Amino acid sequence: MEEEARPREARAASARVVLLQGDITTQEADAIVNAANSSLMGGGGVDGAIHRAGGPRILEECKAIVDERGRLPAGEAVATTAGRMPARWVIHTVGPRWQGGSRGEDGTLAHAYRSSLEVARELGAHTVAFPSISTGAYGYPVAEAARVALAAIRAELEEHPGTIAEVRLVLHDPHTLAAFEQALADTFGE
Ligand code: APR
Repeated sequence: MEEEARPREARAASARVVLLQGDITTQEADAIVNAANSSLMGGGGVDGAIHRAGGPRILEECKAIVDERGRLPAGEAVATTAGRMPARWVIHTVGPRWQGGSRGEDGTLAHAYRSSLEVARELGAHTVAFPSISTGAYGYPVAEAARVALAAIRAELEEHPGTIAEVRLVLHDPHTLAAFEQALADTFGE
């Protein structure tokens, strides 16, 4: 029997939450979020893709931020230009490394999503695109990360209605998309 298609879109207050599979560097959102590390000096995964696609101005601005305020703690977020990408800003956040789940990883991951949305509101961004933070090199189990992410996004949008009209989760592979579809149904299902 054909598995019924799970929803890829939901509403939180006046905003839409949308799931899609793709490459975040090509998103025409006002702001795209980077899963960075505390040094902000770039890396692999989506961090590497964003710096490659956006060009050197992003790293220049990251260096200025770190010179001024030091390394970015996990859960915090800062904004730079998006350089050559269609987006206007990159919001760099640092997710938790998975250490088994008893070191407050869920709270830090939720804080990374919420901090990024707070920075987006301060910028006046109306559309924000996220990757799946911490589920690559940082090893966070995808199903749990998706639940934490969507609960945090829903709460933040409902507590601060208005500025942000759309939050996109841009997933890079079918497995991660499926995990977020399930979490969307669990988080937003009536
Ligand atoms: N667009 C969207 N998602 C992407 C892209 C892309 N172009 N490239 C990779 N991803 C996905 C990965 O498949 C994964 O699902 O982003 C998710 C997060 O994986 P990572 O990029 O490894 O990020 P994270 O797990 O948070 O680890 C961060 O990795 O790259 C380094 O400097 C970074 O030290 C930091 C660590």
